Order: sequence, then structure tokens, then C-alpha cells
Amino acid sequence: MKSIAILISGRGSNMCSIVAACASGRVQARVVAVISNEADAAGLAYAAEHGIATRVICHRDFATRPQFDAALAQALDSYAPDVIALAGFMRVLTPAFVNAYRGRLINIHPSLLPAYPGLHTHARALAEKASLHGATVHFVTPELDGGPSIVQAAVPVLEDDDAARLAARVLEQEHVIYPQALDWIVQNKVKLDANGKVQFL
Ligand code: GAR
Repeated sequence: MKSIAILISGRGSNMCSIVAACASGRVQARVVAVISNEADAAGLAYAAEHGIATRVICHRDFATRPQFDAALAQALDSYAPDVIALAGFMRVLTPAFVNAYRGRLINIHPSLLPAYPGLHTHARALAEKASLHGATVHFVTPELDGGPSIVQAAVPVLEDDDAARLAARVLEQEHVIYPQALDWIVQNKVKLDANGKVQFL
């Protein structure tokens, strides 16, 4: 069975949805580690309660981004994961790190990319009076939030939405599409090809 390592920075609700999907067989994989760059990430307790190895590698303990990424890579490699899922992991990774895990490094982003890369996506969608918003699961490439999409989910932006209500509606969809995309990947139904395009097999 394929293995997944998950990187988080906080709440970890996407991580929980992946762990639950693996436990129920909806994702044909097992979660071998949850690693956080923040010691107080709430998601760590859930992972530990579910018997998953947890690690904290705090970015503030390293002088440079490459040093942090090297420590992160060393920790990840000790679990030999087939796939690495960024799930609310709020650090920008160096090109060297990203390229080392090419095709195996997946992210979820709370917008319909290429709209709204970066932060504060829900507030930006509201400010621009977008009628549709959503989430994207994509392969990670060195360009921030710029890798090719595997799956997206759209939700309508409602008249009385604020950023929190919109975020909650998007998050519900994140919990559906992230496990789905990971199952496709571990079952070799989708891959990143040599030209950087997503292939559905
Ligand atoms: C999610 O909405 C995820 O898409 C977003 O952070 C939230 C984490 O929630 N990720 C990013 O913004 C990455 N740039 P969670 O910790 O409950 O999964």
C-alpha cells in the first residue's frame, strides 16, 4: 500500500479528512507521518491520537529557508513516503525542495487557481465580487500556487457572505476533493508528465 506524509501548520482539518479517508479505504494509502512547522498546530493531537507519527520542525530554528527545507526533507525521507500532501502548510518551499519531490508533492489551495494565489483568498474573492470561488488541488512546482491542477471544486459566492462563511463553504469542498485527488495519485490514475502537464490515465 502506498504511503502519504502530510505537512501542516495549524488546524489540520484537511489532514483529518485525509486520515479518515485512508482509514475508511476511500484513499488506498496509509498516512505515515504528520509534520508541522508549528509546535502548537492543533492537528498534531488528532494525528497522534490516530497512531500516526508526528514531528515538529520549526522554521524559526533555522537561519535560512534552505536549511529549514533540508531538515524537513531529512525528516520526510525517514518515513519514505510515496506522496507528500501539503495541507494548510504555510511555508514557501525552495525550488530545490520542490524539485526533489517532483510529481509526489501535492497542495490544496483555497481558490480556483489561477485566481487568487497567495493569502487571503476569500476576502479577495469577495472584494472583487467574484460569483464563483472554490479550491484547487495541484502538483507543486517552484512557482507559488502555480503548479498544474488535478481537481477543483467551485462554490457560489452568496449575497450575504463574509470571508468566514465563504471559507467554511470552500473548506467543506476541500475535504471532498483532496482525498479524491490523493486516491487518484496513489492508484496511478493521475500523474505529472515530463512536460509538466497533468495526465489522467
Ligand atoms: C485550508 O483552507 C487550505 O486550503 C489553506 O489553509 C487552510 C488550512 O486549513 N491552505 C493555504 O492557504 C495554503 N496556501 P486546515 O489546516 O484546517 O486544513
